[in-house]
Parts: sequence; C-alpha cells; structure tokens
Amino acid sequence: MEFATKTIHAAQPSEPETGSLIAPIFQTSTYEQDAPGEHRGFDYSRTNNPTRARLEAVLAELEGVSYAAVFGSGLAAENGILQAYLRPGDEIVIPQDVYGGTYRILNRVFQSFGVAIRQIDIGDAVALRNALSPKTRLVWIESPTNPRLLVYDIPAIARAAHDGGALLVVDNTFATPLFQQPFQLGADLVIHSVTKYLGGHSDLIQGAVLARDPGVFEPVKFLQNATGAVPSPFDCWLTLRGLKTLELRMQRHEENARQIAAALEAHPLVRRVYYPGLQSHPGHEIAKRQMTGFGGMVSFELDGTVEEVVSFVSSRRFFALGESLGGVKALVCHPARMTHASIPAAERAALGLSDTLVRLSPGCEHPRDLVADLVEGLDAVAAARQTIAVPAVTV
Ligand SMILES: Cc1ncc(COP(=O)(O)O)c(C=O)c1O
Repeated sequence: MEFATKTIHAAQPSEPETGSLIAPIFQTSTYEQDAPGEHRGFDYSRTNNPTRARLEAVLAELEGVSYAAVFGSGLAAENGILQAYLRPGDEIVIPQDVYGGTYRILNRVFQSFGVAIRQIDIGDAVALRNALSPKTRLVWIESPTNPRLLVYDIPAIARAAHDGGALLVVDNTFATPLFQQPFQLGADLVIHSVTKYLGGHSDLIQGAVLARDPGVFEPVKFLQNATGAVPSPFDCWLTLRGLKTLELRMQRHEENARQIAAALEAHPLVRRVYYPGLQSHPGHEIAKRQMTGFGGMVSFELDGTVEEVVSFVSSRRFFALGESLGGVKALVCHPARMTHASIPAAERAALGLSDTLVRLSPGCEHPRDLVADLVEGLDAVAAARQTIAVPAVTV
C-alpha cells in the first residue's frame, strides 16, 4: 500500500456494527467486563481506548513498525522515553540544535535527578565518539532540527550510538514519516509532536512514541499507563482525520517552503536561509540521501537589528505570529523570544542560535501570497531604514 493510501485505509476499516465509514469516537473511561479481569482488550481508558488504539495502529503503519503509544503532548511522549530509560548517573547525548522544550526537560528536570546531558556538535563523528561513554543510554536527535533545519546523517549516528551500547531516538516531527523513515535509517525509537504536521490543523496537542522492537517499546508503554499522560479520544479522532490529508498537505507545505526559500535567498536583507532543499544548505546532500522530501519549514537570519526582526514578525498579513508549526495556516516565530527562550541567552549564543533568526511555518495557502507577504515585510524594513537615514528637511 502506498503512503497516501495508508493514511486513509491502514487499520481503518468501516465500523463493523453499523457500517459507519468513519470510526466513532469511543468517549468512555471504562468498559463492562464479562467476569472479573475478563475483558475484550479494553479495561480502562488510561491504559487503552479503541479510538487511541486505532490511531496508534495507523501511526505504526506510517512509520513501518508495529508499536506506537500516543501521548497527551509531544513533551509527554519525550518524558515517556526519558523516564523509562534514564536513571541517576546515566548520560544522554543531544545535538546543539534541539527544540527548546527538549533542552528544558533535560536540563531542568532530568539533570536534577542526576542525569548528565552531553550537548555536542553531533554531526562531528569524532565529537560524537568522544561524548559516548559506558554510561550513555540514549543518543537523541532531531533531523531536520528545530529551529535551524540542520540535517544529521542518521545512519552514521545510529552506528556510533549502537557501537557505544546506546539507543538512538529520532524526533521525526519536522520531516514526518512521509519524507523520512527513521527506522530504516537505524533509529530504535521515534517520537513525534503530533501537534504539528500529523495533526496538521493547529487544533490539538498530542505526541507519539514508536518502536520496532517490543522489548524497546514495553518500558515506554508501561510508563505511559503508570504516569497517565494520555490524550482524549476526541483528540485522537481529530488526528485520524488530519492524517488522511497528510501527503497532500505536506506536498503543499514543501512547495511553499521551496518558493519561500528561493525568494528569501535572493533578498538583500537576508543574511542566510536555512532550508535543506537549497543547494547552499550544508546538509543538502545528506537530506537527499535519507529523505524523500525536504519538508515544509524554513528559517532565516534577517540582516538587521532585533527590533527590526520584532517589527517584521509582528506585522505579517498571512503569517500569524505564534508558537508551533505544521498547520494549514502559516505561522512565523522569533525563536530567541518564543520557542527557544527557555535556553539562556549566553547559551543560545554559544550554540549559534542568533537573536535575528526567524522561523517560518508556511501553511497550505497559495505560495504567491506567502512569498509576497514576506517580501513586502522585508522591503518595509528596508524602507524604514531609509526614512531614518534621511530625515525630512524642515523649513
Ligand atoms: C521538534 C519538536 N519536538 C517536540 C516538541 C514538543 O511537542 P508538544 O508541543 O506537542 O509537547 C516540539 C514542539 O514544538 C517540537 O518542535
């Protein structure tokens, strides 16, 4: 079955009792048992729920594995892995570019439990080998990364992690299973912020963990039930609905990103564009090898002041200023003050995360409107400079 067909047909038969084409929402907390302890696979909705189970089956099909657990948020999914696998004295290796919330949960929660976080340039094979120790339990990457769209060589990192006795976790939020299949590249666990492209409509918060090996999955599934960060059946149903157009949406997101990246690269007020589809992107060749599309996100450095960045991001017509990404409606974000504000300024600077970086999540609007909105904004910044530089002559 092809990917688009899977999003609509995999694990989604019509409902047997009524023929309902779309599965109902099983809005229930509990289930009647035939005898004490004898039930039909469902006993309590924190442990399992038919709507959630259906979504988990679809996500597993899309990532090409058998095991999935859907959580109440992407960070709950992250916590599911971290708490299942890390104990005091253990170490985790992460890249320099990583979602601010991932940085925060590691540095503000797990570090205080005695976990050591090694944040390195994970694209540097020597740095990675030096960072691995017998205490390393997990190597954790995003690719492409949030917010700079860096691309890492997943098979090479998987080999190094496995040689060092660690598991590789890949956050596949930005690529989606349409454009990247991390298990085929060597990942042991995959996480998603389902909130983003998988949900796709900016109307829910959700996360997922996937695994190929039942032994790797089981501690996460146990932890989910033991700690309880589960999504509502309604939110699972919304994701099932959103997934049906994942391929169509991603094609439009990618086309928009491609046209925006090209327009930004040609603009004099743009110092640097980060988009894996550009020849100038340092990870372009790796992306071509391990991805089947370059994704829908674009970031760029505005060649100006922080005030100019603030003015640009606050006054767009089609790009709403907001956290998050991956929805049908375009969003713009200033990572230094928004998604990555939880990383202290000095550390952001050391990690190469500049205060003039702008992150764009083009939606499914027409590319002409989105490009025009951005170019108008940049031209307005240039025009404002002229006004300041040449004061009006008064007589
Ligand atoms: C790459 C990535 N991973 C994980 C998360 C966390 O997901 P959530 O916001 O659904 O908790 C985010 C959120 O922005 C993200 O961008």
